Amino acid sequence: MPLFTIDLEKCQREGACVAECPARIIELTGKDGSPEPVEGAGALCINCGHCMAVCPHGALSLATMPVAESQPVRRELLPSGEAMEHALRARRSIRTYRDKPVDRDTLENLIETARYAPSGHNCQPVSWLVIHDTKEARRLAGMVIDWMRHTIETQPELAGAFRMDRVVAGWEGGEDPVLRGAPHVIVTHAPKSMLPAPAACTIALNCLELAVFSRSLGACWAGYFNTAATQWGPMKEALGLPDDHAPFGSMMIGHPRYDYHRLPKRKPAKILWR
Ligand SMILES: Cc1cc2nc3c(=O)[nH]c(=O)nc-3n(C[C@H](O)[C@H](O)[C@H](O)COP(=O)(O)O)c2cc1C
Repeated sequence: MPLFTIDLEKCQREGACVAECPARIIELTGKDGSPEPVEGAGALCINCGHCMAVCPHGALSLATMPVAESQPVRRELLPSGEAMEHALRARRSIRTYRDKPVDRDTLENLIETARYAPSGHNCQPVSWLVIHDTKEARRLAGMVIDWMRHTIETQPELAGAFRMDRVVAGWEGGEDPVLRGAPHVIVTHAPKSMLPAPAACTIALNCLELAVFSRSLGACWAGYFNTAATQWGPMKEALGLPDDHAPFGSMMIGHPRYDYHRLPKRKPAKILWR
């Protein structure tokens, strides 16, 4: 099967597909200067879909992404620069949640959006573990506390730097300083050996956090949770990720109890212009 086909009636030979191909595997050497793949293109294509997506005439159809099955970009739905800027600044880490679950369809839908995140070489290495069961989330939070107790004993300096004593004391006092009472936690994991994996998992969760915010739901990175997930044997066993995978990020999710009304200040950007 050819890598892509061209509708010669629609193609205007403008070359946007050639210019935009990250692998540089398209040339205007086909019929009457139409695009065609260079020799060996199949092995070099990263399947990003840019050639199909950039064609204003809908002339190029990738074998893996027929143009007729690919959603058009709806410009009327794109946020303005001002709206986007405000949204990026107004997103907050949510640490108090209502006692109400988020349904599976909604979480699945959010992940469907987050999976459009970029990844090195378009390798899309991210897998998602959704701890939807709130009791299980709480049980795992308890394991994070076990890991902290162990760390306080075995690596007091590290435990001190992260004030683990306070976290453990909070838990023992009936609070949940690990998952902040969020009903769900989502872990992104990927093969440890894949170079783009840590960044891809981080970016995917960042996209998830923004998608969550756009639905008036709340999220917060679960750093303690994820560190325990990478280090603590009982927790690794409980998560049951594939042996060759590592968890590269975890995020709590739920319905926020409070709205935020102001944008907190941030440190000025440290920029070096050259
Ligand atoms: C990698 C990472 C790990 C984090 N881990 C936790 C955590 O375990 N618990 C928590 O309450 N907040 C956690 N946070 C949230 C940060 O504290 C928060 O992003 C920061 O205070 C800025 O607040 P904002 O996100 O509302 O802008 C984490 C953030 C990141 C990026």
